[in-house]
Amino acid sequence: LIGEVRQLICLDDFEVAARAILPPHYFDFFAGGAEGEWSLAANRSAHLRRVIRYHVLVDVAQRDLSLTLFGSVLPHPIVLAPTAYHRLAHPDGELATARGAAASGAVLTVSTVSTVPLEEVATAGMGSVQWFQLYSHRDRPTTEALVRRADRAGYQVIVITADIPAISRRERDLRNNFSLPPGVRAANFDGSVERVEPIPLTWSDITWIKSLTGRPVVVKGIVRPDDALRAVDAGADGIWVSNHGGRQLDCSIPPIDALEAIVTATDHAVPIVVDGGIRRGTDVVKALALGADVVAIGRPQVWGLAVGGSDGVQRVVEILRDELSIDLALTGCRALSDITRDIVEDY
Ligand SMILES: Cc1cc2nc3c(=O)[nH]c(=O)nc-3n(C[C@H](O)[C@H](O)[C@H](O)COP(=O)(O)O)c2cc1C
Repeated sequence: LIGEVRQLICLDDFEVAARAILPPHYFDFFAGGAEGEWSLAANRSAHLRRVIRYHVLVDVAQRDLSLTLFGSVLPHPIVLAPTAYHRLAHPDGELATARGAAASGAVLTVSTVSTVPLEEVATAGMGSVQWFQLYSHRDRPTTEALVRRADRAGYQVIVITADIPAISRRERDLRNNFSLPPGVRAANFDGSVERVEPIPLTWSDITWIKSLTGRPVVVKGIVRPDDALRAVDAGADGIWVSNHGGRQLDCSIPPIDALEAIVTATDHAVPIVVDGGIRRGTDVVKALALGADVVAIGRPQVWGLAVGGSDGVQRVVEILRDELSIDLALTGCRALSDITRDIVEDY
């Protein structure tokens, strides 16, 4: 299997390989989007509507991809976005993802609906930076208990997902009659929980959740400058520009299109994460040029996991990192801070 992983040379190769391995209804669960899947496709095409106007004749022999974020020095700006139910992709589930993330220096954001308890995922990723993604579940005491467990387990940032006041219609899952197989469950809840039921959050909940721990709080799912400002007013320490990978509101704006206005409005008050359709080093260059501090990848980590467990996850991150390093050189940049706004243009 490791030999096979080594033959895959770009992130899209991992999707093709994962599709060949996974049962079709699990592949569809991971790959799919909401309703007509317009946003799913648009997230990708939004990157392809931009071009890079590069510098030449800069000494780029040494490149530095590192940055400091929430007090941690990160070797590169690639974060693993929270994704649900990793044991549908690989028997080791989030344990393998955590090991692969740690080996590749990527921040792993562990989902509330992980299939391994969050404490065990934290142990598997020991020594690396991990964030915890929060879905409010059932009621406030249940939600509070989850946040406190994440704090105790050492998760460095609490990511509050804001774009799920209702669960969208995922038509692939409806057609496939998708359900979790026996033995795979949302392991952060007791066995009586049949399915996690996110309760709608409102702005005051951001302040409340932040008050529970001393951890930085990032609000995920923002696509509007006014909402970004409200999040900062509510105490958010970071903004995650995202439309949930096209899985929530269909026809929602691709995050890469929403990014610049949010950067302008918040004026670097807090760090900005962006995700949605990031598959290439050049996508990372474009996102950083438009003002993001880091990028996140959702589906590609799952494809890596399905194809090669922790080695697959590690390889996916390393390929994106290596593309970024080369693309940085070809753009005439030595460091992430050299990627200026004028590098990227609409096409
Ligand atoms: C299979 C799958 C499961 C996801 N589960 C979660 C989740 O549990 N919590 C969450 O905040 N976002 C979740 N997301 C959204 C991702 O965090 C992220 O926003 C999105 O996948 C980024 O787009 P990309 O897949 O094109 O990289 C999920 C996405 C996918 C594809």
